[in-house]
Amino acid sequence: MLNFDYQNPTRILFGQGQIAALAPLVPQGARVLMLYGGGSIRANGVYGEVMASLQGHAVLEFGGIEPNPTYETLCKAIELVRSERIDYLLAVGGGSVIDGTKFIAAAALLDEDPWSIFEKRAANVTAALPFGVVLTLPATGSEMNSGAVVTRRATQEKRAFASRHVFPQFAVLDPTTTYSLPARQVGNGVVDAFAHVMEQYLTYPVNAKVQDRFAEGLLLTLVEEGPRALSEPDNYEVRANLMWTATLALNGLIGAGVPQDWATHMIGHELTALHNLDHAQTLAVVLPAMLRVRREAKRAKLLQYAARVWNLVEGDEEVRIDDAIARTEAFFRAMGLATRLSGYGLGREHIEPVLHALEAHRMTKLGEDRLVTLDVSRKVLELAL
Ligand code: NZQ
Ligand code: ZN
Repeated sequence: MLNFDYQNPTRILFGQGQIAALAPLVPQGARVLMLYGGGSIRANGVYGEVMASLQGHAVLEFGGIEPNPTYETLCKAIELVRSERIDYLLAVGGGSVIDGTKFIAAAALLDEDPWSIFEKRAANVTAALPFGVVLTLPATGSEMNSGAVVTRRATQEKRAFASRHVFPQFAVLDPTTTYSLPARQVGNGVVDAFAHVMEQYLTYPVNAKVQDRFAEGLLLTLVEEGPRALSEPDNYEVRANLMWTATLALNGLIGAGVPQDWATHMIGHELTALHNLDHAQTLAVVLPAMLRVRREAKRAKLLQYAARVWNLVEGDEEVRIDDAIARTEAFFRAMGLATRLSGYGLGREHIEPVLHALEAHRMTKLGEDRLVTLDVSRKVLELAL
């Protein structure tokens, strides 16, 4: 096992009815800004529940944070935070609202151009406004981690940063808020969480037994419960299991002490920036192709994955690896996502611009061994056509 330094300060309130319990977690006397997306929280009643819970607080609101939140919109929120002397933020929504809130929290206290956070890899983030989360979409793990991804529309760039100053103070996870999710977002969430586990698990063995078995447990749960969330959308137990699984998939726990990959995500971010695919759609396309191209480097873990997640234990090793990757792909399709670029109207002519963007963002040595060069990324994208 590798050395690690792990701390996760986010408090979790889990279960039906927990939104009513959030008020004491927001400081009395704070000037609160509630941030949300395009209106799903009004339609499903979450907006009303949060407002009712915060009756005793001074609450302003900022709606309209888009999926793949844009820098342009978030800058407007930063102005509001400053002009209204806001000192506490509450993100109510999915990963986009939470990520946007993290960026606002850090940028509001910064004396330089907010975009410098990405250029300086957050080295200039030394403080952030405190904030809490009410999660409505299990997928990103953003509710219990310190990462955020923001898109700059003007330059078609999608960039990530991480800072220990932007862990949420608390997150409310009420599975009933996810009943209203459209099937597309249910599928996206399951595939995103699955990919998060794979980025931290499917590398090379370091004899980290608990991390491996924990990761396999999360993958098995997603395979078991993901399709049920589509066929039994009002099943509380299914929703609860998916919600906690997605959080645990990227709260740092399974990634502590193990090598991590993230090449699939970095290529995926460029596909979203250039072609507006949903985040999980990019992962469904890139991950199976990445596993195929990198099968030698990942060989031992692919065999372990084949055995422990897909129960493929007998016969030729090459066939077992092929089968495990094919099953992964079939699972993504069962969740409603296309697994080829062509499924999203993209062809060979779209590969070169992705490689250019990767180069511009210094994404030229990706993967757990830094061997995913632009040439390897090209092979992956070609295989994903
Ligand atoms: O905007 P509203 O109206 O709220 O609608 C949203 C949005 O259209 C809707 N939605 C959310 N909860 C709902 C709901 N609709 C009905 N009922 C509900 N309960 O779903 C749509 C998508 O929301 P979004 O927040 O964009 O989805 P997701 O949670 O998948 O977040 C995606 C973003 O997170 C980033 C992605 O790159 C992308 O920008 N990621 C963040 C990570 C992190 N912070 O650690 C890691 C991930 O790998 C990922 O990169
Ligand atoms: Zn992701």
